[in-house]
Amino acid sequence: MYHEIDLDKIDRNAEPPTEEPARQYYFMAKCRDWVKGFEQKNHRLPCASVVNMGCQMNARDSEKLSGILSDIGYEQTEDGNADFVICNTCTVRENANNRVYGRLGSLHGCKKKNPRMKIALCGCMMQEKTVVDKIKSSYRFVDLIFGTHNIYMFAELLYRCLTSDSMIVDVLEGTDRIVEELPARRRYSFKSGVNIMFGCNNFCSYCIVPYVRGRERSRKPEDIVKEIESLVADGVCEVMLLGQNVNSYGKNLKSPVTFSDLLRMINKIDGLKRIRFMTSHPKDLSDELILAMKECDKVCRHLHLPLQSGSSGILSAMNRHYDKEQYLALVKKLREAIPDIAITTDIIVGFPGETREDFMETLDVVRQVEYDSAFTFIYSKRTGTAAASMENQCDPAEVNERFDMLLKEVQAISMRRAEARTGTVGEVLVEEVNAKDSSLVTGRLSENAVVHFPGNADMIGKIYPVRLTECRGFYYLGELVQGADCNPDFSEKIFSENACK
Ligand code: SAH
Ligand code: SF4
Ligand code: F3S
Repeated sequence: MYHEIDLDKIDRNAEPPTEEPARQYYFMAKCRDWVKGFEQKNHRLPCASVVNMGCQMNARDSEKLSGILSDIGYEQTEDGNADFVICNTCTVRENANNRVYGRLGSLHGCKKKNPRMKIALCGCMMQEKTVVDKIKSSYRFVDLIFGTHNIYMFAELLYRCLTSDSMIVDVLEGTDRIVEELPARRRYSFKSGVNIMFGCNNFCSYCIVPYVRGRERSRKPEDIVKEIESLVADGVCEVMLLGQNVNSYGKNLKSPVTFSDLLRMINKIDGLKRIRFMTSHPKDLSDELILAMKECDKVCRHLHLPLQSGSSGILSAMNRHYDKEQYLALVKKLREAIPDIAITTDIIVGFPGETREDFMETLDVVRQVEYDSAFTFIYSKRTGTAAASMENQCDPAEVNERFDMLLKEVQAISMRRAEARTGTVGEVLVEEVNAKDSSLVTGRLSENAVVHFPGNADMIGKIYPVRLTECRGFYYLGELVQGADCNPDFSEKIFSENACK
């Protein structure tokens, strides 16, 4: 296990090991020596800032970067005064890329004031050759670039960066490796993302993720269970299982395991209270999985089920492998099995060839399903994807109009859904003291909605029964159910009795 490794005992004068993760432990030890040298010279520890710019997968990767920086001795800082800044980038839509260039502009200003500052870029955007070429020619002040496939080599790359004055670029085209046993520094003490698989094989025609994250690779179930057990021993009570399409988990393992098998294994872990997962592709959501969700008491009553479009024609052009009727039938099955499940989704407006009629089909699904919430996106053309070469791109003015219409509909429905829960009692995992009003704490229901209620910092990381007294659109105000304040476990009793699963 990583926590049993003593970096100080590693022989730094020996040749670096060739096997992983031993090689990275060696470079962590070398970086630690560098940090000690910095401290002697400057009478302070160096500071680092990890800027996460992507999805939950990236957020988890960023926790791994922070874990390594922290273990070698860096102090964490949020601002541009850091000695080492690393931006973990996203490229799913054009505006994600623009944000990175904007950030680089402001970091350049910081580096002018502190020329010793090192700037690193990693993540999905760095897997694109055109991007790396642009940075090499127009952003010469960047010190280190690496991609998604060699993130496990961060300690080694960092050491090279700290001991060199030239720009280091190390981007791999692909990998079939999964390197376990590296440290991570969690943002929350009581909840954590857990990668169960990497990459994606689906090639939805609009999406760049399979090109930048590579082919699907699942972690072994025993490694996942071991990781969650050690997280639980370290105070975690909620995990979010992460993968681009968790429903196809396990297909490439030597002895194949299904995602429902995995859920059942994780559900047995003592001390773990909540299991979430994302993302589920509708084409692979099996009856077996619905049953596992219903029967596993720790699985939260929430499913994120991206629709993308309600038009069967567009879904086919998107290469999604389901049609409008199949999606609606799936939702019906889910609601029959788990009546109070919250369903959320992703929708794209303006995919090439989308007509007004196609868009009305999307609105129709939104009205029929009544999503608890939905992320809505305007289609963004990504170079290299199949949709990028489709000729019938939509008129931007028309797309904006559709987008506004969709957003209004989605918001009205989620407000109605939220209001319908007002007055009920829900299980809230307390996440933090409210930033604006310190007499309140903020947490989440199993259905994922946010609740604020009177409380204090001692309640963080525990689950309480809370009556939802008032709905404020997308969040609730609540009050603790009498008698639960001194015994949070009381809540588990109430909810195992009330649970519909
Ligand atoms: N693997 C997940 C989603 C990953 S990307 C899944 O299959 O659901 C998150 C969301 O971004 C997608 O669901 C999609 O709605 C949106 N998205 C992806 N590519 C896009 C593009 N080119 N333009 C607009 N939205 C896009
Ligand atoms: Fe992209 Fe589709 Fe894979 Fe999701 S399933 S990451 S949308 S290609
Ligand atoms: Fe996530 Fe963006 Fe990469 S959505 S997988 S960080 S392209």
